[in-house]
Amino acid sequence: MQAMGAAVDVSDIAADLGRFERVAVTGGLGFVGSHVVATLAAAGRSVLVLDIAPPPDLLPGNVTHHRVDIRDVRAITPTLREVDLVLHLAGNPSGTVSVDRPRFDFETNAQGTFNLCEALAGSSVRKLVYLSSAMVYGVPRTCPITEDHPVAPFLPYGASKLSGEHVVSVFKHALGLPATIGRAFTLYGPGEDPKRAGGEVTQFLRWHLNGEPIRATGDVDAKTRDFCSIGDLVRALLFLAARGDEGEVYNLGSGTETSLRELADVIGTVTGRQASLISDESITDDTYRLVADTTKLRGLGFAPRTSLAEGVRALAAELGDHPAPPAVDTIFRRGQRVGVAGR
Ligand SMILES: NC(=O)c1ccc[n+]([C@@H]2O[C@H](COP(=O)([O-])OP(=O)(O)OC[C@H]3O[C@@H](n4cnc5c(N)ncnc54)[C@H](O)[C@@H]3O)[C@@H](O)[C@H]2O)c1
Repeated sequence: MQAMGAAVDVSDIAADLGRFERVAVTGGLGFVGSHVVATLAAAGRSVLVLDIAPPPDLLPGNVTHHRVDIRDVRAITPTLREVDLVLHLAGNPSGTVSVDRPRFDFETNAQGTFNLCEALAGSSVRKLVYLSSAMVYGVPRTCPITEDHPVAPFLPYGASKLSGEHVVSVFKHALGLPATIGRAFTLYGPGEDPKRAGGEVTQFLRWHLNGEPIRATGDVDAKTRDFCSIGDLVRALLFLAARGDEGEVYNLGSGTETSLRELADVIGTVTGRQASLISDESITDDTYRLVADTTKLRGLGFAPRTSLAEGVRALAAELGDHPAPPAVDTIFRRGQRVGVAGR
């Protein structure tokens, strides 16, 4: 588990979570997973981490680790016999990697999700929560985006996450697997790997803390996002576990629209030093509004607790004065690269 994983307060849904004694978290050593595992461990659950990465030196007493590859159904099946809840977070989270290695991305995200569902079908599991992504929507036609917005991914990553959704849905409807799907918007928070994290909050803050200009693309006023703190995302996932309807899809976001210029302003205010924002306006492919309509999630009783300023402040404190600069080769243009077959 990453050292950064921090427990989130979920005492308000403790009673609803009470029916899940044994919880499996696939991808429990990753950015999202480490916070989920810390939260469940602090809430007294028996947690089983399923991850391809080796275990860390120290784990809380109620957390165990199985090193497995979700692409290998025979390896994961025996580990899932006695779990009440599964949070499926393992996967490739990177659009960039999905363009470089589309087969790897599909086998991990789509085939891996199929393997998990097959392993759980007929088991005694009481709930599966699958973490999907807003990238399944493609370029939004309307804003804020409701869950019934058309899906039209333009990256292999969006297609593999959507394939995972379809698999989860059919296992629910045809085989009775009790499953709920969440689509996360733009996440940020402590513990992101700078080599993989392509979200604007982390990237902008890393440049700014190093005294460099913030480098954006597109129209920084028209390009808006729904920035969701990792703490709120963890809570939202556990709301889906506790109260989400089976067979349903929920947007997971703050529901707040923030332009890139507003984000840079927040970073300047929090750090006490005005941010220098420059943008390549010739790249317009991702100048759109990507904001969640969170009405459905809020209907479960969820409300975000972390404002963008609070979240940026916490992340800035964690990163310190000279964090590693962003190292993600982010894809800006559709069709910028040709797919590489066979990898
Ligand atoms: N980070 C975001 O902004 C974001 C946004 C939307 C959705 N998501 C989804 O959230 C999930 C977690 O993302 P993250 O940011 O924590 O990524 P991450 O890379 O930090 O964590 C993923 C974890 O999955 C594990 N894993 C990868 N392949 C595996 C395999 N074949 N078998 C077993 N374990 C494997 C990794 O070792 C890692 O610990 C992903 O499914 C991603 O699609 C993330």
